[in-house]
Amino acid sequence: MSAPQKLPATFHVKSFGCQMNVYDGERMAELLAEEGLTAVDADAADLVVLNTCHIRERATEKVYSDIGRVRKNGRRQGRDPLIAVAGCVAQAQGEEIVARAQVDIVVGPQAYHNLPQLVRRAAAGEAALDTDLLSLTKFGTLPARRRTGPSAFLTVQEGCDKFCTYCVVPYTRGAEVSRSFAAVVDEARALIDAGAREITLLGQNVNAWDSDGKGLHDLIRALDRLPGLARLRYTTSHPNGMTQGLIDAHRDVETLMPFLHLPVQAGSDRVLKAMNRSHTRDSYRRLIDRVRLARPDIALSGDFIVGFPGETEAEFAETMRLVDDIGYAQAFSFKYSPRPGTPAATLPGQVEAAVMDDRLQRLQAVLNREQHAFNVAAVGRTCPVLIERRGKLPSQMLGKSPWLQSVHLLTDAAIGDLVEVELVRADPNSLAGVERLRRAA
Ligand code: SAH
Ligand code: SF4
Ligand code: F3S
Repeated sequence: MSAPQKLPATFHVKSFGCQMNVYDGERMAELLAEEGLTAVDADAADLVVLNTCHIRERATEKVYSDIGRVRKNGRRQGRDPLIAVAGCVAQAQGEEIVARAQVDIVVGPQAYHNLPQLVRRAAAGEAALDTDLLSLTKFGTLPARRRTGPSAFLTVQEGCDKFCTYCVVPYTRGAEVSRSFAAVVDEARALIDAGAREITLLGQNVNAWDSDGKGLHDLIRALDRLPGLARLRYTTSHPNGMTQGLIDAHRDVETLMPFLHLPVQAGSDRVLKAMNRSHTRDSYRRLIDRVRLARPDIALSGDFIVGFPGETEAEFAETMRLVDDIGYAQAFSFKYSPRPGTPAATLPGQVEAAVMDDRLQRLQAVLNREQHAFNVAAVGRTCPVLIERRGKLPSQMLGKSPWLQSVHLLTDAAIGDLVEVELVRADPNSLAGVERLRRAA
């Protein structure tokens, strides 16, 4: 703990992990700005907030090296910045972080509305730890949204009751809760007023959102009618929450983009059962068939874990076969990482690192091929691209296609414009486009 010091005048928030952490990081920055602090680079900040991720061991260990780096950089300049650890590591290891790294503030993902108060306590040299898991409380006290880029995140649901046996999220984010319909619509309106053209609805299980008997598809249909909004997306979904209503929304709702991130994790029913996924390989495949029936051009994305305890070569081959059957437009794949306190961490048959490396390489080779094939198949299509930022070359701009592909093009369009673009070439990580028509912003 640092000696008593002045209240900080400047801050920097650095977020790791999933999109919800990005959202939380934005909200913390808004909160600190409302308190009169100025956002600056990490090296110049009086208060550095590390918004952390606990999902895999490497993510967690990174926190400790980051804390060391912030402190060392500060000392080199003769400064002693306050360090706050927020996010999922704060929730899971609050006391341990204080003991091991002597940070000034620890604040969990459901408690960060108390950050200003914690900063004052820390500046006075007092203990400042808040890891209460009171769901939804924070939303009521956060400042209204005033700043955003053209593509904005909006958390509508948090927490998880699924308890997949490998996963820490139910412990770090708490139980599944949904924000009210009115709260979400209000925040969406504020974001649109602030310049958002696209909104991505976020939740650990976003398709479990419900409020007063309404489901995610009702929310999507309501948001679709908001003037000024051009695109809607949502992530992350669980196969159990893909209702027919939501699938139908993909067929009917024009602003709902043809993209679905629907993690399956593994292709073997035995492994899926040991993971407590509550779906089978075939139920997942049938679900994908129904989604494709509703929206044939939909881009599918997934998450995969290789080397879950006890996974045999034959079981891994079933994952490879499933990937081959589905044909993903993009995906995230990980080596299993045993997490403290989760049931899978103590299962027998932990898979050797070298075996996991080999399986991950083989899986990623197929997934990369599929992604490239999807992008190549898009060449020749003309589609709207939402311009999000400047590229490296003069008059080059970068944006996203409806299928969430990165597209680069030469244009004098501005950030936030929707440009009609012909996709002309598939590069390894993006598509080259040529402008055909500008839509009024
Ligand atoms: N709620 C979401 C995402 C949770 S975390 C969902 O259920 O889809 C994002 C991804 O991290 C998971 O989908 C999973 O593939 C991966 N993951 C979670 N725990 C992990 C672990 N212990 N080891 C390796 N990967 C993990
Ligand atoms: Fe973790 Fe499973 Fe919940 Fe996703 S559904 S957050 S993987 S426990
Ligand atoms: Fe990481 Fe927490 Fe998100 S563990 S993936 S930051 S919910």
